[in-house]
Amino acid sequence: METMKVILFDQSGEAEKLYIGNFLKPKVADEEILVEVKAAGLNRADILQRMGKYPPPPGASPILGLEISGVIVEKGSKVFKWNIGDKVFGLIPGGGYAQFAVIHEDMAMKIPDSLTFEQAASIPEAFLTAFQAIKWLAELKSAEFILIHAGASGVGTAAIQIARELGAKIIITASAEKHFICKELGAEVLINYKTQSFKEIVMKTTNNYGVDVIIDFVGGNYFKDNIDSLTRDGRLILLATLSGGKASDFDVRKILVKRLKIIGSTLRSRSLDYQIRLTKDLKEFALEKIASGRIKPVIDKIYDWKDVIEAHKRMEENKNIGKIVLRIN
Ligand SMILES: NC(=O)c1ccc[n+]([C@@H]2O[C@H](COP(=O)([O-])OP(=O)(O)OC[C@H]3O[C@@H](n4cnc5c(N)ncnc54)[C@H](OP(=O)(O)O)[C@@H]3O)[C@@H](O)[C@H]2O)c1
Repeated sequence: METMKVILFDQSGEAEKLYIGNFLKPKVADEEILVEVKAAGLNRADILQRMGKYPPPPGASPILGLEISGVIVEKGSKVFKWNIGDKVFGLIPGGGYAQFAVIHEDMAMKIPDSLTFEQAASIPEAFLTAFQAIKWLAELKSAEFILIHAGASGVGTAAIQIARELGAKIIITASAEKHFICKELGAEVLINYKTQSFKEIVMKTTNNYGVDVIIDFVGGNYFKDNIDSLTRDGRLILLATLSGGKASDFDVRKILVKRLKIIGSTLRSRSLDYQIRLTKDLKEFALEKIASGRIKPVIDKIYDWKDVIEAHKRMEENKNIGKIVLRIN
């Protein structure tokens, strides 16, 4: 049995449990490619999985890591569109914190020449999530108002750029020290949610119209003000519950009267077929723009994978602006 180096943890818990050890090298199925991983993006889901709160879906690798970039070293028997040596990146159901990872051939995207491996690895989870939320679920239209919470997060920085490309008017919430990046990417109204009421500012800046779309990761604490901030026919896309799941003192009649849509989604739970269609659509929408530099992957910090503990802690402490990436070697 061939083995490889991966990041492991023997028991769920704090970041200090992570270490580099040996694990079985994955085998390619007919429609998969084996990638020698050069970089892997870090995600909150990795932290939750490490803490034992987010088990990998059935059939997925137990190794952490949902997005990778690297070089193809082996192909399954039914793979004809890729060659050994091609540089690819993409979303995987697990197994990214490793020297080698498998990815379905249709989930892999070619790395544009203008991008580094680290930049490529920072794209899939953030951009697929943001694109799915804004284009597929919220169906954001030009000139609509969108409120993006956690605007400086990995998904938030991708969402701002996608909304900008769709011609929307963008309002964000984030810690004050992170506002500069949101402004640079195209947000027009910047709210420091720690000292300001986002609902009041939304109503003031939209002349009491409200916003058409909200992309939310905060959940319980924001639910009531999110509903109040939406205009008629507004759409709330709920992607995470960073503040917890409980909402209180909330009048459901507002959903009825304003004809609101509330949509929750987790990308990892979507079928392979759904993820392939999403990847194809994102590629058509964004890949040229990414290659030309019009849409930018925002990288907070690149860590050598031996420093994975530090990398996880940085994300847990909410210090990152954009994505954290591990360099695998
Ligand atoms: N549903 C899906 O399909 C899906 C897919 C990908 C990610 N996600 C989720 O989306 C969220 C963002 O992911 P990411 O990788 O972009 O995260 P990230 O880069 O780590 O950023 C998260 C940011 O959210 C802000 N934040 C944290 N706790 C908060 C709270 N209680 N109230 C308000 N703001 C808070 C912090 O920024 P400030 O300094 O501005 O507060 C933090 O840096 C995560 O929860 C992740 O699990 C969901």
